[in-house]
Formats: sequence, C-alpha cells, structure tokens
Amino acid sequence: MDVLVVDHPLARARLTTMRDARTDNAAFRAALHELTVMLVYEATRDLPVAEERVHTPVARTAGYRLANPPLLVPVLRAGLGMADQAHKLIPDAQMGFVGLARDEETLQPTPYMESLPETLAGRPVFVLDPMLATGGSMAYTIRLLTDRGATDVTAVCALAAPEGIKHLEDSGLPVRLITASVDERLNDSGFIVPGLGDAGDRQYGAV
Ligand code: PRP
Repeated sequence: MDVLVVDHPLARARLTTMRDARTDNAAFRAALHELTVMLVYEATRDLPVAEERVHTPVARTAGYRLANPPLLVPVLRAGLGMADQAHKLIPDAQMGFVGLARDEETLQPTPYMESLPETLAGRPVFVLDPMLATGGSMAYTIRLLTDRGATDVTAVCALAAPEGIKHLEDSGLPVRLITASVDERLNDSGFIVPGLGDAGDRQYGAV
C-alpha cells in the first residue's frame, strides 16, 4: 500500500497543536481544519485534469479543472471536522457519509449510518477520518465502497498507527494512505501513542 506522510513544517505545527492536551475543542477543530487543507492538497496532486479554454481579460489560454472529482466520505463523528475543508478545496465533489462508533471493549466498529451513492465504479473516493488506529473502521468503510464498485480509494488521516497500516495492507483493499504522521504504536485501550487522544471527543466533547 502506498503511504504518503505529509511531512511539512506547517502540517507538523498543526499536528502539534492537536496533540497538545491543553488545546481546547475550538482550537483543536481549527488546527484539524487547517491540517485537512494540507492533506487534501497532497491527496489531489495526481488527479487527472481536463483542459478547457479560458478567456483572460487579455487573451485566450488553456485552463484546467478536475476531470473526475472524488466522492468525499467523512466517517462520523470525527471525520466531520475534515468534511467542510475538503469540500472547499473540491467544490464540485459529491459527499457521502458513514457513521461508525468503535466499541471501547472489543475495538470493533459499530455502524449507525450509511449514506452513499449506489454505484461507485470509475469514481475515486477520499475517506476522511482523523485517526487510523486498529484500522477496523477504515477497512469497514472501504468495504462499503468496494461493494459499490470503487477501486480507487484514498484514506486521508491526520494520524496513523503502524497496526492500522498493517491491517489495511493485509486486507488487500485498493487503498492508499495520506497522513501527517505514522506514530509509534497502539496502547492496550486501542489509542494511538503518542497520538492526540480521541479526535471525536476533542472536537465535540466526550459522549
Ligand atoms: C475513532 C476515529 C476512527 C476510529 C479509529 O472514532 O475517529 O473512526 O475511532 O479506530 P480504529 O482504526 O481502531 O477503527 P470513534 O469510534 O471513537 O468515534 P467518534 O468519531 O464518534 O469519536
């Protein structure tokens, strides 16, 4: 599986704000918004473009637009904090939604919502979730997509654990990963170490 770590000074700075336990909910959301712009910017780098002529006030010249905008799929709750920023960068993208809650004991994803187009053949998909921990939630989401014909999936995650990357690699699912950091490991509770805690709770409060 291709893994791209966006190791940019500005991405590091935003991730540091998100990691800091003193960062409050509002500042955490702001840092995630800004980091999302950087991650999606890199995720879109190699997307095919279609050429179209444009008239500047001075002359005619070549212009470009995305030939096949990706479907954006935030994974609720935490992925909601990436959705608007990704959509601003790709305004003509369609958006689907998947709601999952990880069981605190078993660490298995429990689905509670799914709103996706019926067929995804030929469409690139960006899955937005700040955290790739065990990889269970991401693998579950990607299977929903491949069941609908998707063959080109990009996981956009602020943080990833090596265990989650291995899970995706072993799954054989058609996915590449864009992240700002691959951290050390998971702890016994399934939290990324050093990580940033629970990205859903840190944006919206504990449930
Ligand atoms: C977190 C996170 C991912 C998932 C990662 O969500 O946002 O969706 O856990 O864990 P995994 O890789 O081990 O599956 P959580 O289930 O806590 O729900 P939330 O977004 O509502 O906080």
